[in-house]
Amino acid sequence: MSRIAARSTAAASKPERGSWNITIDDRTIEANRGESVLQAALRHGIEIPHFCYHPRLSIAGSCRICLVKVEGVPKLMPACNLSVAPNMKVSTLVPEVGRARQQVMQFLMLNHPVDCGICDKAGECRLQDYEYAYGLPRSRSTEAKHHKRKLYDLSPRIQLDNERCILCSRCVRFTREISKSNMLGIVERGAHAVVERLDPKSDDDPYSDNVIGLCPTGALLSRDFLYQSRVWFLEPVRSVCTGCSRGCSIDLWRRKKEWRLRSLGEERNSMLYRVTAHENPEINGPWLCNKGFDQHKLMSRERTLTPMLGDAPVSIEQALAQARDLIARARSPAALVSALASNEELDVFKATLGARFRVYAREDSVAQPGEVVEDDFLIKADKNPNSYGVRERFGWRTLTAADAQAHDLFLVWGDWGDYDGFGRARVIHLASFARQRDRHADVLIPLSTTFERSGTFCNFEGKRNRFEKVLDKPPLVQHAADVFAQLEAELAGPQRLQEAS
Ligand code: FES
Repeated sequence: MSRIAARSTAAASKPERGSWNITIDDRTIEANRGESVLQAALRHGIEIPHFCYHPRLSIAGSCRICLVKVEGVPKLMPACNLSVAPNMKVSTLVPEVGRARQQVMQFLMLNHPVDCGICDKAGECRLQDYEYAYGLPRSRSTEAKHHKRKLYDLSPRIQLDNERCILCSRCVRFTREISKSNMLGIVERGAHAVVERLDPKSDDDPYSDNVIGLCPTGALLSRDFLYQSRVWFLEPVRSVCTGCSRGCSIDLWRRKKEWRLRSLGEERNSMLYRVTAHENPEINGPWLCNKGFDQHKLMSRERTLTPMLGDAPVSIEQALAQARDLIARARSPAALVSALASNEELDVFKATLGARFRVYAREDSVAQPGEVVEDDFLIKADKNPNSYGVRERFGWRTLTAADAQAHDLFLVWGDWGDYDGFGRARVIHLASFARQRDRHADVLIPLSTTFERSGTFCNFEGKRNRFEKVLDKPPLVQHAADVFAQLEAELAGPQRLQEAS
């Protein structure tokens, strides 16, 4: 079993061969030998509340909200830690279970500050949902609440509020069992017990942001997303992380159309607010590294927004006409194909301009100083999302200094530094982000980013993963596939141009 699969199923009991029928309330369901009552129930869409249980973590059995009645057993049993047995009869709707849930909620809420009005977790808080569903309308306690440390920086990325914590230990088990950094632990006892960073001086866990989503309350919050928006104003769009060749599935959160308000201004209406992991058992399970959680920040880089000829802004028609002339006149043109391009764009390039150019592959991104280059979990050394797609279509020939002197035209697709090595060759550059360069490209065409189009990438194992358009592209920015189709049509003559338009 690979490390991903192993960590993805860390403590989820592996189904043994065969199954049994068990009854939950008035439903008879098939349960796998070896799984828990809670797992069997959830698999069949039967709701049993749970805080500390998580399918990828070991069983803690600490919160007790999952108590159920089992026929023939005098006490209520925690469904997360109770293996199924043949002909087992389980009740979740009897008054005894209802009372137990009320009591557990009373206990968990005893010292909780109930500051949902200022808590980022409101709207996706399990504690809030269960309190509404299973709690009592008012607390029976007349004691003053016990105060703990409130909203402080656990790390440069995470805020911790110990008053909101219910000590389910999901975060602690994650850092022990999944990321293996042992960053967090529970210290002290009884009412004084708190989650704490065990070694404040240690390097940050490169997977630490996963604990934010794992936390069933608002105890662990993202400092980056803090007070940026209520979650019910936002919606997720499925995408793929471009941080490395693992190509993890992510959700990018943008503002819902009906909540784009003029008073917020254009920037806040059309920005990406946060990234969360999108569970994909084939690629990343439910996890993501911190670089993946930062994907939305890519859009704060300065963009290339205007077509240029040298240092002069022009219309896109002028830029395309000049690019066409340069390609038509070139004797030995070369193309540097981007490993950030989607499979669909690579196909269009191959079918249109591919045969005219000697194609070189290139990495758009390399590891930055301080970044984890590679590990045995998710992070890969190749920092490009679609090197596999490029290699599959064009092989992987990289440009040497000698090659660079052999061409009189370069079509550069994607980010690129200076054009020094290109000698006197002309340059057509298709780029999404701006860069300071000593020399201007002969033609610069602004390109859309991954967030402004749909498509697929193939990760390092060749697994295809789809991303959807999240944002509209700026008006003068072009999709690479459209640019290639237009250039090819113009080069092929007026009839093809008519067909293309
Ligand atoms: Fe079963 Fe917490 S979910 S004890």
